[in-house]
Amino acid sequence: MKDFLAVSDYSPETLQALLDSAIQLKEEWKSGGNKPIFKNKVLAMIFQKPSLRTRVSFDMAMRHFGGDALYLSPAEIGLGKRESIADIARVLSGYVNAIMARVFDHAHVVELAKWASVPVINGLSDYNHPCQAMADALTIYEEFGKLKGLNVTYVGDGNNVAVSLMHVCAKLGANFTIANPAGYNIAQKAIEIGKRFTAESGSAITLLNDPHAAVKEADVIYTDTWTSMGQEEETQKRQQVFPPFQVNEKLVAEARKHVIVMHCLPAHRREEITDEVADGPHSRLFPQAHNRLHAQKAILVHLMS
Ligand code: CP
Ligand code: NVA
Repeated sequence: MKDFLAVSDYSPETLQALLDSAIQLKEEWKSGGNKPIFKNKVLAMIFQKPSLRTRVSFDMAMRHFGGDALYLSPAEIGLGKRESIADIARVLSGYVNAIMARVFDHAHVVELAKWASVPVINGLSDYNHPCQAMADALTIYEEFGKLKGLNVTYVGDGNNVAVSLMHVCAKLGANFTIANPAGYNIAQKAIEIGKRFTAESGSAITLLNDPHAAVKEADVIYTDTWTSMGQEEETQKRQQVFPPFQVNEKLVAEARKHVIVMHCLPAHRREEITDEVADGPHSRLFPQAHNRLHAQKAILVHLMS
């Protein structure tokens, strides 16, 4: 496969191989550095939305391999506005060795991949966030030594991050439960895709509206912002609906004793997560953010070698 647009495109075997590769590349980097396998290679990074983790971790990943990354801001590219996506893809393919894109409409990253002759990586769309899911799976795997049979509970909005987390869990055999407010469900199509994978991996997807019931047997509690980028006009409404879905010490205490708490970040402290939890003993927020670097190195090696 040329591109990395969704974890649902990849087999469980390849996803597990990516995790193993990430662990090996992390070890290599910690003990002196990665080999300069991408010397003279450049990753173009198209951003239609802001970013800290995605931008810096991809840039550093390329540098650690002896390569380079090029940041292209929304103002510069004007994806589909200044120029068609098909033209941008074909022009960039003659300059760079791979493209990473953060877009609003998922169809735009699919269109980029269709026209680019170099690999295209999805750095978040309104539909999903597959690089995040790989870092999440890596973090869970490092913590528990497996994903199979674990209970991963997502509390909050059925958004892009939830979709990719659900799919990686379903592929790798973890049970995925979501508790979201009514009307803020994961898209039905994404649930159907996930359910097909659970049939193969022997895991389950459970859809609930009660966070307390959802976390009862949780090994992992995961949350994300109540208002994703592009939904800013709904902020006030969402702030009224979501407070019962806050991940706080009381909710964490209802899960299994060894539960870990995850969040893709950026966090809106005192909204979806409290300081006590984000900075408390169950939190894995920062190792999880750091794992973006290692998971994405594995993706880059897989696509560009
Ligand atoms: N989690 C994540 O993708 O963070 P950024 O938006 O800062 O890249
Ligand atoms: N769901 C969030 C994730 C940010 C990394 C958003 O799309 O804004």
